Amino acid sequence: GAFPAILKPTPATQFRDFGTNAEMLWSSVDPTAYLTPQSRLFVRNHSRTPQLDRSTYALKVYGDGLATSRTEGEALTLSFADLQRLPHHELTAVLECTGNGRSYFTTQQGQTVSGTAWTSGAVGTVRWSGVRLRDVLASVGISPDAVSIQATGLDDDFVSGGTNYGRVRRPFSVEKALDDALLAWGMNGEDLLPDHGYPLRLVLPGWVGIASIKWLGSLEVSTTQLTSPWNTTFYRMTGPQWPADSPPLTVNPVRSAWELARDQVLPARPVTLTGRSWSGAGTIAKVSVSLDGGASWRPAVLDRRGREGQGWTQWSVRWGNPRRGRHELLARATDDQGRTQPFEAAFNTQGYFFDAVVRHPVQVA
Ligand code: MTE
Repeated sequence: GAFPAILKPTPATQFRDFGTNAEMLWSSVDPTAYLTPQSRLFVRNHSRTPQLDRSTYALKVYGDGLATSRTEGEALTLSFADLQRLPHHELTAVLECTGNGRSYFTTQQGQTVSGTAWTSGAVGTVRWSGVRLRDVLASVGISPDAVSIQATGLDDDFVSGGTNYGRVRRPFSVEKALDDALLAWGMNGEDLLPDHGYPLRLVLPGWVGIASIKWLGSLEVSTTQLTSPWNTTFYRMTGPQWPADSPPLTVNPVRSAWELARDQVLPARPVTLTGRSWSGAGTIAKVSVSLDGGASWRPAVLDRRGREGQGWTQWSVRWGNPRRGRHELLARATDDQGRTQPFEAAFNTQGYFFDAVVRHPVQVA
């Protein structure tokens, strides 16, 4: 693939190329590595990766939700050095696109949806470093009446189907901002790569990927609920079975993947298969697997979880006697909130939240 807008090295054996987007191939995942290397993490861009410079970078903060109300023209500006003077903080979290698994609406449920036809690779777990958003907000002073914050990226406007939606931006609650939101400059101990938001991005752990705005240019803090096309038109459930006022999507569902290619060829001898499960709402409590298309189930061994409970869970299962032929592998996880993956995902026209158990074909030869 050519990856015209993607600046990192992208061997075709590690990614599937969707033009300005790329998904990680699960067959390229190192089963011994808990974290996703930054160079292997999926890329999801609405326009193109901008070239920014840390030395001239400035974050604008404004709005009527600041302790002293400021218009955009009167915005406070924080340089990269200003941000680095605040206490540094690290956290491990899953980053996942809302549309991860979208192609299975078609291949598994026979439904037509719009958007990038991801298989299972629009996800990763990384260790973020930066400053807590709550510390940034405390340093600039916010009003007790603030309820909503709009994050806007510095990438070019998003243009689709003849409509210009403006800069990529999405509001989120002050409650999430004061809880675990991070302004990140690093991933796995490295500076962010341009594709992943250099020099600074927002990270909202457990929430849909669109919430973690890359190339963060401004934060508008408001005493009223802010909106943007990314929480009214996109990243909501839409379609005949959904109410016209369905809420913006926030917390990611429970999902699983095998560390195998689809249709991977396996030798006809005992093998240990590995995979991972994750949830936007907590940790994984249980994973059941089937090696015979769903006829029988057994528990997978949970090998490794994230330290603070926000990364994914690695699991494994021993396949003692793989018979020659075609098989379907299934993995079904339950999180510690009691949410279990369904067998059918809820249809919606934009193909979000495919959380159903994926039927993963393999060949034993
Ligand atoms: N932020 C900006 N400014 N522009 C974008 O196009 N894409 C969003 C989010 N943040 C996007 C953005 C989406 S849809 C996802 S899934 C994640 O970034 C992807 O992050 P990654 O490319 O670092 O994996």
